[in-house]
Amino acid sequence: MEIIILKDHEQVSRYAFNIVSETLKKKRNAVLGMSTGKTPLRLYELMANAYKKRKISFKDVITFNLDEYIGIDGKHIGSYRSYMNKNLFLHTDINPKNIFFPDNNIKHLCSSGNEYEKKIKQKGGIDLQILGIGENGHIGYNEPISSLSSRTRVKMLTSATMVLNKYPFKGTKIKQPRFAMTMGIGTIMEAKKIIILATGSNKEDIVAKAIEGPVTAMHPASVLQFHNNVKFIIDEAAAKKLKLKDYYKEIQKYQKDILKKHKR
Ligand code: PGA
Repeated sequence: MEIIILKDHEQVSRYAFNIVSETLKKKRNAVLGMSTGKTPLRLYELMANAYKKRKISFKDVITFNLDEYIGIDGKHIGSYRSYMNKNLFLHTDINPKNIFFPDNNIKHLCSSGNEYEKKIKQKGGIDLQILGIGENGHIGYNEPISSLSSRTRVKMLTSATMVLNKYPFKGTKIKQPRFAMTMGIGTIMEAKKIIILATGSNKEDIVAKAIEGPVTAMHPASVLQFHNNVKFIIDEAAAKKLKLKDYYKEIQKYQKDILKKHKR
């Protein structure tokens, strides 16, 4: 695990953007795992801006979103499809055929998970998974006590998550769904590389638990301790409760110095 501590949300987003950009430069048809929520919004803006300046292209990129509410139309403002269109996809040259979400049609719930897993495999697996972290430690919509080896399936959201994520539904006629189809933790763990972003003091407790606490289904993000290519990219506020914060910063500085030496 690598822990990158940066000043603020802007720096976290820029650091993550550089990783995405490097990934696309190395592999133009990279498979990206996409996350929603407030945290990656600036990252997506940077990605869209880079496309506008023709610094990166999404023409051959394939995306799999982590989750989608059940029974909601993709055009509704509260759906994650609409979030992705608005904040990233519509501002790039991505081929709509290469955009995947779990099938959230109520009639397909029994087969939807398996189909999604198959599709991910068919496309060669996820090269880079972008994650956020819920205040309760969820990744995707894998709420506390989700099996650490779970696959894509339906999950019921906790009432705390419902409250935190209700903002897109305010003032709309559609009620926020209580259930979502989410990639499983086992599915996420198969990504070749994972970056997890966390900013703000509301994440300080859970970030410390996920990084330095025991691995437990009570804090699903703690399972990332078992992944061999994961970077936590966090700001000072989210890093506040890390016991070994100074050590992580020393490693960061050491790596920077080595890079500088190599460049000379
Ligand atoms: P947030 O959500 O980025 O809005 O804090 C994170 C998550 O729930 O994964």
